[in-house]
Amino acid sequence: MKSASFSRTITLLVGALLLSAPTAADAASILITGSNRGIGLGLAQRYAEMGWTVYATARNPAGADKLKALDAQFDNLTVDELDVTDDVEIATLAKKLEGKSIDVLINNAGMLGDITKQNAENIDYDVIKRIMEVNVYGPMKMTKAFLPHVKASEQKKILTMTSGLGSMTFTQRLGRFYGYRMSKAAVNMAMRAMHADLKGEADGLVIGLIAPGQVQTELLFASGFRGPGSITVEESIDGLVGVIENVTAENVGPPVNYNGEEMPW
Ligand SMILES: NC(=O)c1ccc[n+]([C@@H]2O[C@H](COP(=O)([O-])OP(=O)(O)OC[C@H]3O[C@@H](n4cnc5c(N)ncnc54)[C@H](OP(=O)(O)O)[C@@H]3O)[C@@H](O)[C@H]2O)c1
Repeated sequence: MKSASFSRTITLLVGALLLSAPTAADAASILITGSNRGIGLGLAQRYAEMGWTVYATARNPAGADKLKALDAQFDNLTVDELDVTDDVEIATLAKKLEGKSIDVLINNAGMLGDITKQNAENIDYDVIKRIMEVNVYGPMKMTKAFLPHVKASEQKKILTMTSGLGSMTFTQRLGRFYGYRMSKAAVNMAMRAMHADLKGEADGLVIGLIAPGQVQTELLFASGFRGPGSITVEESIDGLVGVIENVTAENVGPPVNYNGEEMPW
């Protein structure tokens, strides 16, 4: 037991019995990349509260104070170091979790990159290269490395966080953000292709795309978008939990937004 008091333990046990919460043995499990802040942190907290086994990951767990607080609060949440561009760290975590099933892998980690270097006046290809490594190759590597764990699970879902900025249709309204836009369009195609290739590996396997809305996180603020229409992390998670639950091998298709709406390619 981490730092929970005796009375809190009793309360949790009674609550678990009353609500028929899953036991540790049969709880669903979720692995989330980039769990130290923003949407990833929100997902880690919410699924821990729901009684799921949560494998939270961060590039620098030692400096992740909010995640460390969740780690101390929830017995069903663990934290591991993971940079999604680091092949060794990916392989090490996959090995550590060998034999454990993962119902849902959320490829959440992502970066916007320096927005002054991704427009018609100024294009820095090194910036774009790094964005692609994190936002596209990271989810692809994670999908390959954790496919055995996901295949062994009940729910079998690999879901990657995309963005409206990756939509060809929406891009008619606004350009800029070249690297970020390209990365999200590319990861859409990568996951679509991987779903086509890998779906036969297990009945019900889903390799799909979800989108969180315009969420008040560091990434959104760095983009310059602060206007009306943005939502809190909690509001995004409220929707995403339902979206994650509802996506199946039968209905997987274009990205599904946090509000359940399909996003055009
Ligand atoms: N916020 C929005 O409005 C919005 C809209 C559409 C899509 N999204 C997508 O939602 C996801 C989460 O974004 P957010 O808004 O929560 O952004 P955020 O607050 O900037 O968080 C990004 C997370 O990704 C992690 N990360 C970055 N590079 C990484 C790497 N190489 N390996 C592992 N983790 C890495 C960050 O870790 P560090 O702290 O170590 O950098 C951080 O935990 C992203 O994929 C983003 O593109 C966000």
